Amino acid sequence: MSIFDGKLNIEVSSASGIEAVTKRELIALGYTPSGAEYGRILFEGEYVDVLRANMFLRTAGRVRILVGTFDATDFDALFDGTAGISWQDVLPVDAKIVVTAKSVKSKLFALSSVQSIVKKAIVKSMCNFYKVAKLDETGAEYSIEASIIEDKVRLTLDTSGAGLHKRGYRTWLGEAPIRETLASAIIQLSVWNPDRPLIDPFCGSGTIPIEAALVGLNIAPGIQREFACEKFSNAPTLRAVVQDEAEQLVNRDREIRISGFDINPDAIKLALRHADKAGVRDKIHLQVADMRDLSSRFSHGVIVTNPPYGERLMKEDELKDLYRDFGKVYGTLDEWCAYVITSYMGFEKYFGRRATKTRKLYNSELECNLYQYLAKPPKKRFDEVYKQPRLLR
Ligand SMILES: C[S@@+](CC[C@H](N)C(=O)[O-])C[C@H]1O[C@@H](n2cnc3c(N)ncnc32)[C@H](O)[C@@H]1O
Repeated sequence: MSIFDGKLNIEVSSASGIEAVTKRELIALGYTPSGAEYGRILFEGEYVDVLRANMFLRTAGRVRILVGTFDATDFDALFDGTAGISWQDVLPVDAKIVVTAKSVKSKLFALSSVQSIVKKAIVKSMCNFYKVAKLDETGAEYSIEASIIEDKVRLTLDTSGAGLHKRGYRTWLGEAPIRETLASAIIQLSVWNPDRPLIDPFCGSGTIPIEAALVGLNIAPGIQREFACEKFSNAPTLRAVVQDEAEQLVNRDREIRISGFDINPDAIKLALRHADKAGVRDKIHLQVADMRDLSSRFSHGVIVTNPPYGERLMKEDELKDLYRDFGKVYGTLDEWCAYVITSYMGFEKYFGRRATKTRKLYNSELECNLYQYLAKPPKKRFDEVYKQPRLLR
């Protein structure tokens, strides 16, 4: 019996601060997720739902299958708990077994020892079942994570491969780009919906306008990439089914008004290449421009942006001047809302106004604040207007 033929406990990871957005996405897809804990959200589903989660979630980091869970405060318990799992239901005999580990508030914290004990226990269990002396591991890679939190071990099988922020369109790196998953989370946290204009005046390599366009045209974030589980020889081949679902949902005819500007011509060149790869180049406007010249023919709209921050990109005095000037320009767009993510803690002071709301978020490891400025009392929330069609299941 293979685990891929039955009900699965599916675990979705989500970065600190955006778990609620990921949970909302799962609900919009028709699932019933658990509460978020330690950056992971659980739901029940079948193997096809693993593929759907990989394909459709815009803010998730990874999708894993929970294989087993047990308590362990010493290496014997770790070995026995791992070896006690029916690995022959999870792995084919030729699987290339890779083990990663993490530990939080636990007695077992030496990660390399955890990794090697879990691997030994899996190999022993497989060798016993198949009555072989060793495994040749020549097949597809199966990556198992041993996560130990407060002495509780969770063994999961990764199904994503490269992190889900890697959509496949951003193949060239710009200056301090924002993670695609975080960009999408900010867009979903904002009052923007695809009927409203959106501007990113510091768009760099184009991540925010492109992610907004993917939402606006209902293009699934995973539509042009592979997932590790597609290579699993013991899992059903359902990618084509989910790919077809994703393609049916695309709405290229939708009118969207999304613009990105940057002072650096190289950044705009990059943004254009990324927009091209993402298949949205003809749907968004990208142009070299100084934020100081920003204006709009629309009276209402939403600014979502990630301006320069930190010394790597700019000296502090220049940064303060830039934020001051940004505040002045924003003052001329009085019916516009703004969502600004930066790690510079003095942002509000120089921007010249207190945010309606602030939210702590992490751009990779960097602690940032999302400063939210609402021009008028909040209009309809994103998820009230933008309803992702439920999948037929
Ligand atoms: C943190 S980066 C934005 C990264 C972007 N979110 C991405 O994913 O690639 C900040 C950008 O602001 C741009 N910039 C700096 N000063 C500017 C100005 N006065 N007007 C417009 N863009 C500016 C920089 O060229 C840089 O690309």
